[in-house]
Amino acid sequence: MATYDLVVIGTGPGGYVCAVRASQLGMKVAVVEKNATLGGTCLNVGCMPSKALLHASEMFEEAGHSFAKMGVNVSAPKLELPAMMNFKQQGIDGNVKGVEFLMKKNKVDVLKGTGKILGTGKVEVSADGKSQVIETKNIVIATGSDIARLKGIEIDEKRIVSSTGALSLDKVPGKLLIVGAGVIGLELGSVWKRLGAEVVVVEFLDRILPGMDGEIAKQFQRILEKQGFAFKLGAKVTAVDTSGKSLKATIEPAAGGAAETLDADVVLVCIGRVPYTDGLGLKEAGVALDNRGRVQIDPHFATSLKGVYAIGDVVAGPMLAHKAEDEGVAVAEIIAGQAGHVNYDVIPGVVYTTPEVSSVGKTEEELKQAGVAYTVGKFPFTANGRSKVNQTTDGFVKILADAKTDRVLGVHIIGIEAGEMIHEACVLMEFGGSAEDLARTCHAHPTRSEAVKEAALAVGKRAIHM
Ligand code: FAD
Ligand code: NAI
Repeated sequence: MATYDLVVIGTGPGGYVCAVRASQLGMKVAVVEKNATLGGTCLNVGCMPSKALLHASEMFEEAGHSFAKMGVNVSAPKLELPAMMNFKQQGIDGNVKGVEFLMKKNKVDVLKGTGKILGTGKVEVSADGKSQVIETKNIVIATGSDIARLKGIEIDEKRIVSSTGALSLDKVPGKLLIVGAGVIGLELGSVWKRLGAEVVVVEFLDRILPGMDGEIAKQFQRILEKQGFAFKLGAKVTAVDTSGKSLKATIEPAAGGAAETLDADVVLVCIGRVPYTDGLGLKEAGVALDNRGRVQIDPHFATSLKGVYAIGDVVAGPMLAHKAEDEGVAVAEIIAGQAGHVNYDVIPGVVYTTPEVSSVGKTEEELKQAGVAYTVGKFPFTANGRSKVNQTTDGFVKILADAKTDRVLGVHIIGIEAGEMIHEACVLMEFGGSAEDLARTCHAHPTRSEAVKEAALAVGKRAIHM
């Protein structure tokens, strides 16, 4: 029977990062993983494979539609989907091996099997009908999340798919019907749209990307519509008839009314994700869940059972890999007696479409609701020199600052590379910086980031290039 300082259940970005940090802090650590490979949702069926396909499909789109105007004449690109899927798999394998390497380098024991908490200090690991009990001073639950399902619509991962099936289709669907205009719907919709599918997105609410700044979401919807996306907002899919050659989806207005039927070759259900706690034995062990099935934690990630902590998608907060990672670091530091901390006010969110959408801090709607007086500075990429020469001028930067103190409260960007540009705003906000601080920071020319500086200048009504 081994004795560890820490056993982490789950090796997604929350779990493996926690294990590395704990090892750096001198702990004897093991991770438990039920999947054949390490890395969790993010590396195997989430962030990484989706980004590989977004990149490859974007190259296909560029080769077909943007090269000629730059005087680069190539014959029309031909899609070889198996090769594209192979490109995706190579990316997955490389990253998964990277996590294996990190476990070895940091002397973290990898225990393959399903972890079950028997009580404080005891984890049972079961695989292939055999089980062993591991003793440990501390346990971190990092078991992540699973897809949310629609009642009465069965996901077979062939014709009715979740994100997992949508990352591995064996041919481009003629018609792809997407349920949910959230991050997955828009990212994977972009992939298959670029590869030739006709894409219709059905969204329950009257807007896309709920939670994102409303003005950004509106403009982004227009950009996607220009690319060929069709949206049915304020509507829900209530049934999918699978009996015929093509699927027949029943769509009803969210507010009630007459139903319509839409044909589709593939239906992608992406209406959110739910915490994953199956098989962990939480109830028997006395680990409390909240009213949404998430593991309940205090501000120090401690659950209701002594010596057991939880992080990542399985607890409250945005279901994002970097949030899980930061919590992994913080909980390891807390267990080591340090002051681990995550600043939930500065967690960026990125939608990796073309153009990208990125966001950090408060939206305009949130500030209004909280009654905070704010000033807005905006700058469009149509007025940014680098974007003009590259002819990629879709989008704008929007900065929200406190009207009294000028402190930056939120930054929202639509544009090529928006996901990279958001981080100067994150650093600024971590230091409680003002729009003036950003506006007086020298930005290299010609870069797209100059639009961030100009938006900061625009907060004080003194943008130069507009
Ligand atoms: P997970 O990554 O879900 O890992 C949990 C691990 O625990 C899994 O490996 C699972 O097998 C294991 N496990 C569960 N129960 C047990 C058990 N009892 N015993 C042993 N092992 C167990 N986020 C971003 O920030 N950026 C993105 O671009 C992004 N893209 C995404 C794209 C898609 C299609 C999807 C589905 C998600 C995406 N996400 C993205 C979200 C991101 O994947 C999650 O937020 C992140 O993986 C959560 O990390 P985690 O460590 O909490 O859990
Ligand atoms: P989501 O929460 O982003 O979007 C789900 C959408 O479905 C919402 O717009 C919601 O209003 C809608 N919806 C819910 N029920 C519906 C119904 N019955 N009919 C029609 N629409 C309905 O969830 P999504 O896209 O499934 O992603 C899951 C999680 O994965 C997200 O929390 C996200 O954080 C994470 N993720 C992050 C990515 C990134 O950071 N780039 C990429 C992909 C996923």
